[in-house]
Order: sequence, then C-alpha cells, then structure tokens
Amino acid sequence: MSNIHTYESPSNIALIKYWGKHGNQLPNNPSISFSLSNSKTITSIEYKKAEANIEFYFEDKRNLDFEKRIKTFLNNNKGILAFINDYSLKISSKNTFPHSAGIASSASAFSALSACLISIKQDLGYKVDNFEKEVSTLARLGSGSASRSVYEGVVLWGKTDLIKNSSNEYAIPINDNIHDIYKNYHDDILIVEEETKSVSSSAGHKLMDINPYRTEKYNQSNINLKNILSALKTGDLDLFINIVENEALALHAMMMISEPSFILMKPKTLEIINAVRNFRQETKIPLCFTLDAGPNVHLLYPDRYFSKIQSFIKTLNTKNIINDFLGNGILQV
Ligand code: DP6
Repeated sequence: MSNIHTYESPSNIALIKYWGKHGNQLPNNPSISFSLSNSKTITSIEYKKAEANIEFYFEDKRNLDFEKRIKTFLNNNKGILAFINDYSLKISSKNTFPHSAGIASSASAFSALSACLISIKQDLGYKVDNFEKEVSTLARLGSGSASRSVYEGVVLWGKTDLIKNSSNEYAIPINDNIHDIYKNYHDDILIVEEETKSVSSSAGHKLMDINPYRTEKYNQSNINLKNILSALKTGDLDLFINIVENEALALHAMMMISEPSFILMKPKTLEIINAVRNFRQETKIPLCFTLDAGPNVHLLYPDRYFSKIQSFIKTLNTKNIINDFLGNGILQV
C-alpha cells in the first residue's frame, strides 16, 4: 500500500542577501526575505515500504538531473530521514512559473520537498517536535534560501543578537513588528533573460571564500540588517529602498571583482535600474529594485501604487513579467 503527501511552497525574494557560506550550509551573514504568492512549487511524494528507491518527475517527465541532486541530498541527510532506507519514493514536482523564466526555483523546490519528507517522517511515527523548524532545517541543507520559503511574510535566516531565537540552522518568521505599508507588498519580476545562469549559486557562494572584500561586505550586510529591521518596523521606505538596492548591487559587485569575475547583469538590467531610479525621482513613488544572482529585475513597491507601476512597466518593453506579492509559506494540498 502506498501513501501520498503533497505540499506547495513559495519562492522568496531576499532583501538582505545570503551570499557566502561555511560548514554544512551555514550562512556567513543573516538574510531577510519576503515569501511570495504566485511563484510556487507543488511537490508530491508517493511512498511505500519496499527496497529503497527514488524516482523524480518534473512536470510529469522523469528528470534524471534533478533526481541525482535529490538522491545526494537524501543520502547526506539520512540522520534526519532515517526511514528512507526502507521506502521507495516517487517524487513529482511542478512549478507555477515557467521553468525557463530564469527565476531561482531551488528555494521553493527544496522547501516543498522537505515539507513532504518531514510530514512522511511524522506519519511513520518518528518524533517531530516542531514541524516547520524541522522542515526549514532540512530545506536549508538542500539550498540555503529554501530555509526561508517555509514561512509566510517576512522571514529571517541566520543568527543575530538583534532577534531572539534566530539561528544559522533554520529560518524564523518575523512578522510581529512589521509596518502595515508592507502588507501585500508587490514584487513584479521582469524577466530579462530566460537562459540558465552563467554561474550556479553554489559556485557563486564559493567565490566569497577568497574575495578580498569579504570582511567589509559582511560588516556592511550586518549594518544593513540592523537598518532594514528598523525600516520594516517604522515603514521608512526611503531607508528600505536604500538598503534593498545596496544589497543587490553589493552582491553583483562581489561577483564582478571575484576570481574569476562574473558580470551577471545584462544591458537591459541596467536600463531598467536607471529607469526605476528616474521614475522614483520624478514621481516620488517608492519603487525600488532588487536582483538575485542573475540579470532579472525584481520591482518592489507598496500595494497602493499597483496601477501606476503597471503603466510604468509597460514603458520598459520586457518580454515576460511575473506579478507577485507577499504571501504564505508552505501549505499542505
Ligand atoms: C542570490 O540558496 O540558491 O538568491 O545554498 O548553494 O543552494 P545554495 O544557494 P541559494 O543562494 C541564494 C542566493 C541569492 C540570495 C538569497 O536568496 O539570499
């Protein structure tokens, strides 16, 4: 007899970036993100007691590349997932956004996968003290940013004296002290390039180990963390914008001066950044941008400016846009 567990998990966009790690997937600095609503992964695991076996299907097709990564992940984490030696797992996953859209999907993927796995663990009678904490810990071991996708709203991953109960091992939601201006905050993702990334996140993180500016970068991110916590509490959007754009550009600056060096922005990325800054200056509308380790641009702004920003976006002539906004964490479906 087999059983199925299904979870969905959102992607997230980092305001304070996780960039650089040590030990077993521990971050070099704390990061903060918004969980999103529309960019999601939905994963099911059908499991039955049998000789250990893993099959992975992405969008209804067997995908051996992902299957390999998942097998390594499961093998490395048998301590948490003792049952996998005696079960056969058929994992099926799909995204609500096009795979080719070039937006990072490892966060939503590992978060949804981990939620299914911990839920199976619980079903099989193993002790799970705090479901979400255990999911976030396991998700982190698959992909650091996935630890944050487990929770709704504003999420912190990484130990800081500024927030009680923060940890390098799992993320925590920090929605208690957030100003109303961030309710339904928007993230419109402008797809500049659909190709896969020229450098993987893992390789990018590694380059920080030998980056000559790393100490300064982490000092700066810690100052940014303190200030953004204040901006999130008071609703000071000038401060918020300043920090969010600084974090995005610092990440790209680090990549530009790495050995080897990577320029991850495209001409269109810069064109959009300049247009955003001009628009902000002219209209006083608090629109800002952020970037992941790639050329696509995320536009962040308060809900009340939605229609004005849509008209502005039309002037940018980008092929593909994903309209997203602040949302839930993992949900059982
Ligand atoms: C630029 O979480 O993808 O998106 O832990 O190696 O899987 P791994 O890295 P990953 O890195 C995300 C980096 C980032 C910033 C962020 O999301 O904080």
